[in-house]
Amino acid sequence: MLNEFLTQLRASCVARRIPLISTESEEILRKILEERKPKTCLEIGSAVGYSSIVIASTIAKRWGHLTTFEVAYPAYLEAQRNISSAQCWNITLYPFDITKSETTVNVLPLNCDFVFVDAQKSQYGNYLEKIHNNLSSENNIILLDDVVKYQTKLNTLYEFLEKNQINYEIVPSEEGDWIMILNNVK
Ligand SMILES: C[S@@+](CC[C@H](N)C(=O)[O-])C[C@H]1O[C@@H](n2cnc3c(N)ncnc32)[C@H](O)[C@@H]1O
Repeated sequence: MLNEFLTQLRASCVARRIPLISTESEEILRKILEERKPKTCLEIGSAVGYSSIVIASTIAKRWGHLTTFEVAYPAYLEAQRNISSAQCWNITLYPFDITKSETTVNVLPLNCDFVFVDAQKSQYGNYLEKIHNNLSSENNIILLDDVVKYQTKLNTLYEFLEKNQINYEIVPSEEGDWIMILNNVK
């Protein structure tokens, strides 16, 4: 039933040209979530909630929780509806710009062990600055979507990685839509 809902939501996003993760990125997300079994997950860029539902439904069986941020209010409202229709009760969705909102700092979860970043590419480094202190010190993994297609916009990301001496891996997803993986960022 959930699969059917996600199939319909993907088709509706494609028809309306709403950006969402590729089917290949979805598979990578699911595989990593099954392997790493995170409990405290964070997403930046929910759009209408497709990837949020994928993450939350995968971690639900281990009592995992997802906190997700979407800055565009109409997308946030639709995400709320979709999350409710998918009966994902382990999601907290905020209509905030994660870099700007004064309140964001109070609602960002502590000890995040999984982060999915899929928002404005030119701000990827700023997002990492913002969440750095909220990562679990024992075990964390950060996935950043679309790092090849938009590589010319990723200056802030590479500056952050260099400044903090963080190693990264880039894995192929759909053509031009590769995913960067950061492991155990301190
Ligand atoms: C590529 S879409 C996300 C797709 C979604 N992850 C999915 O696969 O279903 C990027 C979203 O990030 C949101 N966004 C951009 N900058 C943001 C920010 N600073 N804080 C929160 N959301 C942001 C945009 O409004 C847009 O809806």
